[in-house]
Amino acid sequence: MTMTISNVGVVGAGQMGCGIAQVSAAAGYKVIMYDLAKERIEAGLATINGNLARQVASGKMSDDARKAALDRISGTTDINDMASLDLVIEAATEDESVKRKIFAQLCPVLKPEALLATNTSSLSITRLASATDRPERFMGIHFMNPVPVMKLVELVRGIATEEETFSTAKAFVTTLDKTITVAEDFPAFIVNRILLPMINEAIYTLYEGVGSVEAIDTAMKLGANHPMGPLQLADFIGLDTCLSIMQVLHDGLADSKYRPCPLLVKYVEAGWLGRKSGRGFYDYR
Ligand code: CAA
Repeated sequence: MTMTISNVGVVGAGQMGCGIAQVSAAAGYKVIMYDLAKERIEAGLATINGNLARQVASGKMSDDARKAALDRISGTTDINDMASLDLVIEAATEDESVKRKIFAQLCPVLKPEALLATNTSSLSITRLASATDRPERFMGIHFMNPVPVMKLVELVRGIATEEETFSTAKAFVTTLDKTITVAEDFPAFIVNRILLPMINEAIYTLYEGVGSVEAIDTAMKLGANHPMGPLQLADFIGLDTCLSIMQVLHDGLADSKYRPCPLLVKYVEAGWLGRKSGRGFYDYR
């Protein structure tokens, strides 16, 4: 059995939240995007508009489809507007206490049968589920960045996730024209379990002076055929997110091979978070 999803809520208007809102609206769902600040919603809607316009310019979407997708997305700073939604995907910052606070505010507002999902890239689905009133209707739906371009979505069940929740999420993600992979509820699941230690190792390679930023990125782009070098990718993901994923791996798997590189820690402490803050391994100012 799968439930019918016709409208979707997204919590967080950052790069992941906007991407999820965009692909959901493009697939025909009505979408409400919630964030605390009106400015973040406005900036998010502008980003979505720009991305859709690029798709029109490259002939991948008609202008009518762009307008219809935009009309299906609305933004709000009032959590009560999420009351009638069938599925809500939390895409807030990768911080467990922030996510717990959101669930505490959101759950009493949602209709009882609504599904709740998290886009967490590393945290335990079972533990996050315990902060909701609906562990059986809760799971991980993990999109990759940039959401409109990346084909993969990881689906992760918590210990209490019901089969109907999983099959509904699977059907929903399939309508977004994404490919699904199923991961068990282990720290950082599959993609980030493999990708982040590689990025962390690239930062160690810089830290130990094995190569410059450019040398490391060129080596991996041309030597391993990666679309972006690992340091450029770290800036793109956000260095704070990279650090928090490494910390989850280090704490959860208790193996020193996951120790975050001290240079990564230092950059985050400096507020050098990559592309979003204007400075990381590269300068974007
Ligand atoms: N948002 C939306 N669309 C974007 C985009 C963005 N941020 N960046 C690029 N695109 C689109 C472009 O519009 C373009 O679309 P068209 O073909 O319709 O014109 C297409 O993507 C290709 O873009 P470009 O030609 O400008 O650039 P590119 O060929 O260098 O590709 C890239 C850009 C797709 C980002 C590519 O560099 C890439 O695949 N990088 C690796 C991305 C990656 O590894 N992501 C996973 C990160 S890990 C993760 O997400 C998990 C986590 O939890 C941390």
